[in-house]
Amino acid sequence: MGMARVVRIGLLGCGVVGGGVVAALEQNRAALLARAGAEVVVHRIAVRDLAKERHEAVDAARLCTDWRSVVNDPAVDVVVEVMGGLEPAHAAIQAALAAGKDVVTANKELLARHGEALQALAAAKGRALMCEGSVLGGVPAVHNLHSYFVANRIGHIRGIVNGTNNYILSRMEDAGLDFAEALAEAQRLGYAEADPAMDLEGRDALYKFQILARLAFDVDVVADDVDVAGISDVTQADVQLAAQLGCRLRHVVEGRWDAESGRLWASVRPQLTTQDDPLYHVTGADNFLGLEGDLVGRIGLLGPGAGALPTASAVVEDIVQLLQGGSVRLRALRRASVAAVRYPAFLVRRRFPFGVAAGPEAALAWRSILGATQVKYAGMAGGDAEAWWIRGCDAPAAAVLSAVSSDLAGEFAVYPAANLPGGRRVAADFRTHTAAVV
Ligand SMILES: NC(=O)c1ccc[n+]([C@@H]2O[C@H](COP(=O)([O-])OP(=O)(O)OC[C@H]3O[C@@H](n4cnc5c(N)ncnc54)[C@H](OP(=O)(O)O)[C@@H]3O)[C@@H](O)[C@H]2O)c1
Repeated sequence: MGMARVVRIGLLGCGVVGGGVVAALEQNRAALLARAGAEVVVHRIAVRDLAKERHEAVDAARLCTDWRSVVNDPAVDVVVEVMGGLEPAHAAIQAALAAGKDVVTANKELLARHGEALQALAAAKGRALMCEGSVLGGVPAVHNLHSYFVANRIGHIRGIVNGTNNYILSRMEDAGLDFAEALAEAQRLGYAEADPAMDLEGRDALYKFQILARLAFDVDVVADDVDVAGISDVTQADVQLAAQLGCRLRHVVEGRWDAESGRLWASVRPQLTTQDDPLYHVTGADNFLGLEGDLVGRIGLLGPGAGALPTASAVVEDIVQLLQGGSVRLRALRRASVAAVRYPAFLVRRRFPFGVAAGPEAALAWRSILGATQVKYAGMAGGDAEAWWIRGCDAPAAAVLSAVSSDLAGEFAVYPAANLPGGRRVAADFRTHTAAVV
């Protein structure tokens, strides 16, 4: 056997994911050598603080605090960016590509904002920018959307892409914790960051949705066009009401490409899921992505959405893809108009919309009828209802109605003109808190 090819990694960042990458390369060195024919070595590592404690597999002699010297080191073949944040990650990736190096990143925020330009730069330089770890952690979503499903036209994606939010909702359900307790537990276990706002307010999910929509639909999604809601307003009462309806609340990203109108229906928000919905069964910090292709039908990918080794798995598999000549090339992106997903019926709580309202006028009307001050406008409604979240709608709808008209009457209401399957509608009278299917 000839000499194995040696690939030298310049690692930018050595925290949760970076430490995981070092550990993963050590753990599976023999497999990589045997199966990819290469010895992948971490040549240099940039961090902020040299004094910090690192994973035991990290060789302290390789650490420095200057990302430029790592990127520009002529011995470095591949730059792995796992620092996070916009700067200096953005500048570092640009510099690495300009220096003729392939790049692997797990940085969703950067890719959501500048992914298209960075992919164009990589293509112009004849290099690759790989990004499997940026969405759904260890679950191979990017690879499947980009490299596997090419002949299919993907019309619909729907998933749970934020493990922190899913963990919190799961614990509110199964342990009866209130929101703050579940969040504190998630932080204690390392699922949530010290500043969890990006997760809780849905921005992290939006970034991932932007990356997924680009790959699935070849559509560039402008963040401001998507109506985003997080989970920070969800209370134990909401979770209990969902359970009474036989449902679970899940934080869901969803996109449906309408080729005819050139529109993308997009939504990033909590949805009620029923038992026949795969998302209902995704618990804890797991992630899920459902795809619908015109040839293959429906496919689901389930697995760990974060964590040191699962995310390192995505990063290292990207390195192997590079060894095999792989790259992520974005097809020419369409500029589509983005509209909010429309739901057939939904709950609107005084402080927080679970679903999509009927427009600013409706929000104003609700405000006056309910005497509420914070009914938010949350998109569009009506029209061609697709019963996604109240599939087999009659039972949950009836339960909603009874909940509305009983002790929760002051807090919940049913959107007055929602379409149900079979062309029926929910008519609600907010003054008397009664509703009926007509
Ligand atoms: N954690 C996960 O499960 C997960 C999953 C998927 C994707 N990601 C993504 O992976 C990336 C890294 O996440 P993480 O959880 O590993 O973050 P982390 O634990 O905070 O690690 C960040 C690392 O980057 C280093 N760093 C930050 N700024 C730097 C600078 N200016 N120069 C040199 N080094 C710098 C830090 O150095 P010090 O150690 O000295 O502070 C630290 O080692 C993020 O983009 C994140 O969104 C994370």
